[in-house]
Amino acid sequence: MTVLGLETSCDETAAAVVSGVPGRPGTIRANLVLSQFDEHAPYGGVVPEIAARAHIDHLDSLIASALREAGLGLNDVDAIAATAGPGLVGGLMVGLVTGKALAFAAQKPFVAVNHLEAHALTARLVSGTQFPYLVLLVSGGHCQLLEARGVGDYTLLGTTLDDAVGEAFDKTAKLLGLGYPGGPHVEKWARKGDAKRFDLPRPMKGRPGADFSFAGLKTALRQTVTKLVPLTETDLADAAASFQLAVADAIEDRTRNAMRMMRERAGTGDPIPFVVAGGVAANAALRERLETLAQAEGFDLTAPPMALCTDNAAMIAWAGVERVAIGSTDTLDASPRPRWPL
Ligand code: KG4
Ligand code: ZN
Repeated sequence: MTVLGLETSCDETAAAVVSGVPGRPGTIRANLVLSQFDEHAPYGGVVPEIAARAHIDHLDSLIASALREAGLGLNDVDAIAATAGPGLVGGLMVGLVTGKALAFAAQKPFVAVNHLEAHALTARLVSGTQFPYLVLLVSGGHCQLLEARGVGDYTLLGTTLDDAVGEAFDKTAKLLGLGYPGGPHVEKWARKGDAKRFDLPRPMKGRPGADFSFAGLKTALRQTVTKLVPLTETDLADAAASFQLAVADAIEDRTRNAMRMMRERAGTGDPIPFVVAGGVAANAALRERLETLAQAEGFDLTAPPMALCTDNAAMIAWAGVERVAIGSTDTLDASPRPRWPL
């Protein structure tokens, strides 16, 4: 089965063509992503109106290029899938209307994809990961622990009560004047810093459950840093390192609880796949901690390659493959769902 996928939920305009059968790794025949980084950089964050306009400007030509790269015409694909949510409503409308129009014109099935489900299913596209498995999704917009038991069958084990973890990295970088997007800058500075210098809170650590919170950490860092102004390079590096360690401690604690919840339900000691996805998965210090944790708890960590961890349309096309295979397609009156929990 071959599916054309479209992604426009945030600041990435993307089109991809993927072929495959659920249960086995798929084949990515084209995967084009146009980041709107330059458009948003001056504002230090994504501006919804600018994002929606940029999607309109670029989506059509991106789709044409993706089909060309795959060596296919629209009539050769078996279905069309587009992100319907969650995300910024303006962008969602652009992708959804485009996808539905193509499906109508070519008389093909249409799939309105949940972006979070697509992130969660990416491991199956990449390596055919079998259900059930644990997903830690950490990006600028998401921060969740999910148990994936089947297509359309997920249990949310934990989510953030305030900021997403990538957002916390971005706000920290902004506070310290390190650049946008913040994660890679914070990580770079943290390498030179003393992570023990500032005693920052580990939000939610030690509490039952697997929910996250980062607002208190952010406030504590702001208060710490404000007392030091003007900041030296050493202060910046130490602040970045202390923040990153606090985040890693918090995520490790929350993930351990989620692993134990899942282990209890599984009722066996067999290894359970553990998939880490989202832009923050690029953080080497965090990856190392999760690797050690997974070994201790009997989980097998896999992380999709970075280009498939961050927002892309190959994951949307693959979610389409999985959904069409179980006969779960949508009608052409599907509407955008800015809030759409799994
Ligand atoms: O998945 P992604 O590209 O986009 C969405 O948010 O959906 O994730 C981007 C987020 C940003 O918040 C960015 O600061 C963070 O991932 N990030 C990192 C690193 N690289 C990217 N955070 C920590 N360490 C990194 N190395
Ligand atoms: Zn995403």
